[in-house]
This record gives sequence, C-alpha cells and structure tokens, in this order.
Amino acid sequence: MAVSDASYDRDSYHRRRKSVTRPDPRLDSAMDIARRVGNADFDWDAFDSAAYFEHNYGTLRGDDERIIEIVADFFHSDRRTWGARAIDVGAGANLYPALTMLPFAGEVILFERAFTNREWLQDQIKKPCPSWWQFWSHMNAGRSAYKPIKDPFDLLSRRAKVEKGNIFSLKPGQYDMGTMFFVAESITTRNDEFVRATQSFVNSLVPRGSFAAAFMRDSSGYRVGGRSFPACSVDERDVRQALDPVATDVRIQTVESKDLRDGYCGMIVATGHKRT
Ligand SMILES: C[S@@+](CC[C@H](N)C(=O)[O-])C[C@H]1O[C@@H](n2cnc3c(N)ncnc32)[C@H](O)[C@@H]1O
Repeated sequence: MAVSDASYDRDSYHRRRKSVTRPDPRLDSAMDIARRVGNADFDWDAFDSAAYFEHNYGTLRGDDERIIEIVADFFHSDRRTWGARAIDVGAGANLYPALTMLPFAGEVILFERAFTNREWLQDQIKKPCPSWWQFWSHMNAGRSAYKPIKDPFDLLSRRAKVEKGNIFSLKPGQYDMGTMFFVAESITTRNDEFVRATQSFVNSLVPRGSFAAAFMRDSSGYRVGGRSFPACSVDERDVRQALDPVATDVRIQTVESKDLRDGYCGMIVATGHKRT
C-alpha cells in the first residue's frame, strides 16, 4: 500500500536521522569519505542470486504491487518511447523492471556488475521462474499497451541482452528509457557514490528520456545468502537532491513496506525525464 510523505513525521525523522545516523554534511571531509565502505570494497561476484530471488521475488508482495502500479502507469502514460532502447541498471535477480518497459522497448539491456547475476539473468530470460507471471499479471491488468503481449517471456528473451558493466562508467546519452531498482543506495555506504550512481543512471538516457527508479528508504544494509552488502541511508529529500541536477518532471512517491527484512523504513519510487 502506498502512503503519502505526510504519514511520516518528517521533521522529527530528519532530526533523529541527521543527529544519530549521519554526520553533518559540512564535515564530509575527504578523510571521512575514505573511511567509509564504497562500491569497490565489496565482492559483487559472490552475490547469491538464487537466495536473493527467493527472498525478494519468490512471490509477489504488496510493496512490489504498488511499485508496479506507479512505474507501469508512468511508462504507459508517457508512451513517447515505442521501439525504445531501454536499460535496467543493476538488474540483479529481478526481471520485473525490464517487464515494465517491454511494451515500449525494441531492446532491453540488463546491465549488471556481478558475474553470478549475469548468469542468473541469462538463465531466467530463457526459462523464467513461475512467480514472474504474478508480476506480469499485475502490470498487465487494465493497461492497454501490455494487454496484447500474450507471451511476455518469449518477447523478453528476444529483446533482452545481458551486459557486463559498472554504473559509474555508463556512457551518457545512450538510452530512451531506463529503470534502476534498489541499486544506487544498495551498492555503497557512501553518500557521494549514491549521488554519482543516481546521476550516472539518469545521464545514460537521451535528453527527455524516461526513467523510473526505486530505493530502499533509510536502509542500514542487507544480507544475501549469509553475506553482508552495504546501503547508504536515504530518504525522499536525498533522492530529490540527487535527481534535481540531471532530471525534470521528477515525482517521488513513498511505498509502505516493512516485512521484507529488518533495517529499513519503506521504499521510494522516483519517475521523471532526463534534463535537456
Ligand atoms: C540490491 S541489488 C538490486 C537488484 C535488482 N535491481 C532488484 O531490483 O532487486 C543491487 C544490484 O546492483 C549490482 N551492482 C553492484 N555494484 C554495481 C555497479 N558498480 N554497477 C552496476 N551494478 C552494480 C549488484 O550486483 C546487484 O545486482
């Protein structure tokens, strides 16, 4: 279920968060940044794709239903992008961001740093797990662009291409539309890398290109198959600040989520267009 920003006590939330979990940004010296754990400090090739998939996408939950509604409605109403070149950045063990773009995309790049996730993606686009039908049925319902696609996974297998890559090295101006789900804030503890990853994603789009991005809200990190992975604690204000220099028409919505694991406080979805 979605909740509006107002359902959080924002002022007290920010006071608590800035004083307890994050230092004053004015003290964000080079030495502070160097001490934190960055994206390159983690062994992404040890990411257990099967465990991640099972925990997160083995069945469709209410938070993902709400994200699908926001993102599919956005791309559906945008529709300037038929035949688009699309990218899902940090695709991981998740097919549903790519599925939201499928009706509009002639090609979908599944862009991923981890070897394990690239192998998983290659397998899944040939032989998808049954739970992906739950995700497709939810986005398909009542949206005319999705309805005519009778076999989305056959289409995905023909349109999707798995590509090895690093979000920080994406080439600017390449794609007409893009998704980035739970990546910029979930690959580093460093705020500067969160901002750089978010902006690199949006900059990989052509001017006015459409994007949808999802973020864990106020996350303190996560475990996959017994290994720990980092997070940068962000809220709606951080997401807006990261997007504003590179994006227009930005809409940020909060999605209620509490049962996935400990150590987070909902999810955030941002939609918009790359600045011209
Ligand atoms: C929390 S997972 C999110 C996966 C998926 N997008 C989802 O919605 O569940 C973060 C993903 O980012 C990938 N990743 C980590 N560092 C990256 C980088 N520098 N460039 C691209 N992807 C990266 C990880 O391998 C992992 O698949």
